[in-house]
Amino acid sequence: MNPEFWQQRWQDKRIGFNQPEVNPLLIKHFPALNLPTDSRVFVPLCGKSVDMIWLASQGYEVAGVELVESAVQAFFTENNISPTVTRHADNPNIKCYQGQILGQTIELWVADIFALKPEDLGQVDAIYDRAALIALPADMRLKYSEKVRQLSSNISSRASGNAPQLLLTLNYDQSERNGPPFSISSEQVQQYYSSHYRITELEGKPSILNAAPELAVTEHVWLLSD
Ligand SMILES: C[S@@+](CC[C@H](N)C(=O)[O-])C[C@H]1O[C@@H](n2cnc3c(N)ncnc32)[C@H](O)[C@@H]1O
Repeated sequence: MNPEFWQQRWQDKRIGFNQPEVNPLLIKHFPALNLPTDSRVFVPLCGKSVDMIWLASQGYEVAGVELVESAVQAFFTENNISPTVTRHADNPNIKCYQGQILGQTIELWVADIFALKPEDLGQVDAIYDRAALIALPADMRLKYSEKVRQLSSNISSRASGNAPQLLLTLNYDQSERNGPPFSISSEQVQQYYSSHYRITELEGKPSILNAAPELAVTEHVWLLSD
């Protein structure tokens, strides 16, 4: 998927992936990460997800990255937050929107995740990946998983090794339909993350893809930990 694909999706408002309500699997499983309040949670490929509001409501700071600036602007407008906008000192293509909600800071980077450096993002204590890994085609996923790990294993993190991650994936017969969202098997989750994380499946359950309701789909929740 090139950047133009996502720019076009947002421009045409073809954003069926965006959920109006907080993801119930986030509410159910995020406590498994055992994070102290005021930890900082990284949300890669964040879109304008209201899951970030829920994370703030739980006492966490949020740091997100999103390619499409209008998505980030919509997030702040729709949640009545007035952001401060700054441009990256060295890279004019990168901007940072920062605002406060429920006493927490939400900082969303408008950037290609692959252009972001750990020192840009700052402290990361945990990661929440919903519709990020599965948004990317197979040939980008290993590079993405490495990038997420690089961005979250910064010196200031509280985690002694890798910051824990809650990862949501979908699994279906990829020959029946092309992504995104792409199907990811448990073997692929292992392939992307097992060299650095212990991987535990917290839940697997039947699900429905709105764009293809006839498809047999399962949704999986993974805890990646040290
Ligand atoms: C399927 S959406 C999921 C958004 C969000 N996680 C959610 O649950 O609603 C994937 C998002 O990733 C963004 N994106 C795609 N490639 C990206 C990249 N290389 N860097 C940053 N964001 C990217 C897209 O613009 C899109 O908003």
